[in-house]
Amino acid sequence: MLAINGGTPVVADGEISGWPEVTDDDRDAVMRALDRSTPWRWPLPDVQELEEAWQRHTGMKFAVAANSGTGALHMAIAAADIGPGDEVLVPADTFLASATCVLQANAVPVFVDTDPTTYCIDVAQISRHITDRTRAIVAVDLHGLPADYAALRAVAREHDLVLIEDGAQAHGATYRGTPVGGLADMAGCSLNGSKTLSALSEGGLFTTDNPKWHENALRVLMFGDEIRGMTREYNARIMGWNYRMHSLGAAFARSQLARLPEMTAAREANGARLTKALLDLPGVRPPFVPDDRTHVYFFFPIMVEPESMGLDVDVVALRRALKTALRAEGVPVDEWQQVPVPGQTLFQEQRGYGRGCPWSCGPGRPGISYHPEHFPVAQDVCRRRLVLGSSTSAFGPGNTGLVDRFAEAFHKVLVEHRTDLCELAARFAEET
Ligand SMILES: Cc1ncc(COP(=O)(O)O)c(C=O)c1O
Repeated sequence: MLAINGGTPVVADGEISGWPEVTDDDRDAVMRALDRSTPWRWPLPDVQELEEAWQRHTGMKFAVAANSGTGALHMAIAAADIGPGDEVLVPADTFLASATCVLQANAVPVFVDTDPTTYCIDVAQISRHITDRTRAIVAVDLHGLPADYAALRAVAREHDLVLIEDGAQAHGATYRGTPVGGLADMAGCSLNGSKTLSALSEGGLFTTDNPKWHENALRVLMFGDEIRGMTREYNARIMGWNYRMHSLGAAFARSQLARLPEMTAAREANGARLTKALLDLPGVRPPFVPDDRTHVYFFFPIMVEPESMGLDVDVVALRRALKTALRAEGVPVDEWQQVPVPGQTLFQEQRGYGRGCPWSCGPGRPGISYHPEHFPVAQDVCRRRLVLGSSTSAFGPGNTGLVDRFAEAFHKVLVEHRTDLCELAARFAEET
């Protein structure tokens, strides 16, 4: 019997270990940082050690730690001197921050639809969105899978655009052997508590090979002032913020980074195992991983497909029924973005800095408007997608034995108790 009808859940409460996994090494690292945190003096040694380690990991010449992924992405946009009147291409299906980092620089995001197989930006559609105002592309390694950087680099080169990687969801993944964080001209990664590399609290990492952009990013990090290797001038040279990272979070992230290969190997194996188990199950489509890259399953995206069950029911109703039934079985699936980013109220109402800024004030291009229906693949993904992962990280080393039970729960709900699921979906369809 399904757990929603009083049966025994496949996965019992408390069986899934949380994320991030905290070890004695992590505890020691944080305690050591605590002991050497006074007197407070920038640059902090633990922050520097994290930067050096991330620089080595990504193979990039420069790494700068920040207090969030959003901050690191804004540093990249601002470092390239992108500002009022400029446009930046951003995937329509991503987390909001991939687009708001552009608004933060007073520039305008222009959205591009999704590749239906990888769910990353559809590179084939980029050219038609390029205008004489386009300055950069933000590519997102969505769900934990890198975008197609060979194709992205080619289009960026052809149109003289800066390529920025939003690697917030994909630390540990690789594209043609190169790690996330090292795939574009600049990258911004997040270290928030849910991420595949985490500072437990908040944090971010900026990388580049370009000394000029590195210098600019450092100024954006700290009030527009000069830092490092010289006495601080207390003279803001550009508009800057305070994006400095906390030393205890940096120490934690540095310690986790030492275990990233091991954590990544477990994630990859667990994700691949679940994919294999779901591949032939009617009603769901597990993620596809092209041969030239690896997936770290920050989110394991599952597309709900009534068509493959021979059902003529609203997909959102079936998704809700599947989510309800699976959660009762102890599998923490959830919905993620409900609409493509351009469908969010911020973009519909264009309330940025007020007075139309940055869209139609000053050097902005009047007449820009956002229509989610212009991104049919992203819209379809947002209606079908359930995700497993994130802060209830189902795929970390601590949950290796559980993946088969997740698969068992999917089988129970979709095959063994298909009729119950269909009835629930029909009920939900009537309600909407
Ligand atoms: C794709 C993506 N970009 C950017 C961010 C922003 O990172 P943060 O929360 O560290 O600011 C996140 C996560 O929150 C994300 O998932």
